[in-house]
Amino acid sequence: MREFTIGREVEFAQFPAPIEIDHSSYYLLKNNSTYLLASRVCPHMGYPVDVSDGEIVCFLHGWNFDEKTGICKHIPYEGLTTYPVFLRNGEFIALI
Ligand code: FES
Repeated sequence: MREFTIGREVEFAQFPAPIEIDHSSYYLLKNNSTYLLASRVCPHMGYPVDVSDGEIVCFLHGWNFDEKTGICKHIPYEGLTTYPVFLRNGEFIALI
């Protein structure tokens, strides 16, 4: 795993927050006081997911994902690929 600096904590007011790292798209998720980075690639057939009305949705077949965990709301054993995020000196660091 490699560390990637995402940005300063104070710069993020809303979650899920879109993030780009090395030409790949993610969402920074907040679950109470913990954070995750979630891939924006749908685990079903690889379509990009988007945020709509605060929910993470894949519009190809309608799967919805929990905005705090990335777990599929209809098929709980499916979910977005997630990566750990921690805070160091006020900056979010992702391990990918
Ligand atoms: S590709 Fe996302 S629900 Fe089918």
